Amino acid sequence: MQTLSAPRFLVTRAVPGPGIALLEAAGPTTVLETPPSYSELSDLCASGGFEVVLTQAADRIDEELLARAALRGVSNYAVGCDNIDVAAAARRGIRVGNTPGVLTDPTADIALLLMLATARRCLEGDQLVRSGGFAGVKPDLLLGSDVSGRTLGLVGWGRIARAVARRAFGFGMRVCFTTVHDGNRSRSPEERTVAGGEAIQVGLDTLLADSHFVSLHVPLSPQTRHLIDRNALAAMRPDAIVINTARGPIVDEVALVDGLRTGAIAGAGLDVYELEPALAPGLADLANVVLLPHLGSATRSVRGEMSRLAALNALAMAAGKPPPHEVLPPVVVR
Ligand code: DGY
Repeated sequence: MQTLSAPRFLVTRAVPGPGIALLEAAGPTTVLETPPSYSELSDLCASGGFEVVLTQAADRIDEELLARAALRGVSNYAVGCDNIDVAAAARRGIRVGNTPGVLTDPTADIALLLMLATARRCLEGDQLVRSGGFAGVKPDLLLGSDVSGRTLGLVGWGRIARAVARRAFGFGMRVCFTTVHDGNRSRSPEERTVAGGEAIQVGLDTLLADSHFVSLHVPLSPQTRHLIDRNALAAMRPDAIVINTARGPIVDEVALVDGLRTGAIAGAGLDVYELEPALAPGLADLANVVLLPHLGSATRSVRGEMSRLAALNALAMAAGKPPPHEVLPPVVVR
């Protein structure tokens, strides 16, 4: 039986794993059956009916919503918190939590998957076989580009970028990186080294000019929005492949479609989109792209662990305590 003072939780979409049961054991928990619109969510947060809301990357928690909100905390079922105005929440004494660490390896796996699938024309091959068009091995059938021996340029050097570097060294790649949020602060040899090798730190211009694969691993911020714009694409090699498993708006998607059409770059592997879930016009018609539906953290175990972390954050915030994984402004590293 719940006491009158039991905390009340709002969950904007059902999540797999133990999270919802953990919340239900602590107090009344409302799990919405359909994702709320912005104004529905804003009204629910303002209603005074909930201590903590468990949100997802698609829920916009901006200054206007926070100004009305009668909440103790926002627990984001994601590591990226660009959907939340963390500074505005802090000003209002509303705590924010996220789910770091557990999705590092699966997101790095997806970055590698996109690199391999794009370079080796995996989807075109799959399509050919399924459609009955495979007439036997041919010397010039679906020739792709090499991965081993090529240069991978990582934009960012946080947990996920380093996990991608570890994998890339296993493929015999040369790895370079640059950081954006700290003006590419010089890293020591130890900081540049991961299992398998030492990455080379370069400026963004060098990375764009030299890399066969440019993979993005920075949070979305005013500084990184459209970091990969028309000029950045023009600065890349014509055989470059862009990989984005971070956040869609880091890439100017209209410019990307133009660059892919005109041959400014060779391909793209994307797990995230600028106006997700919508795609820029023409993107889905291109053969030289591999498009995934935001699957970076989508393994059963990881999504389950994310729900546990999100619930533990929510329980702490409901009790007026800092969550185990607190997000404080300024948000810089993923
Ligand atoms: C994250 O955790 O940031 C993933 O992209 C899921 O939204």
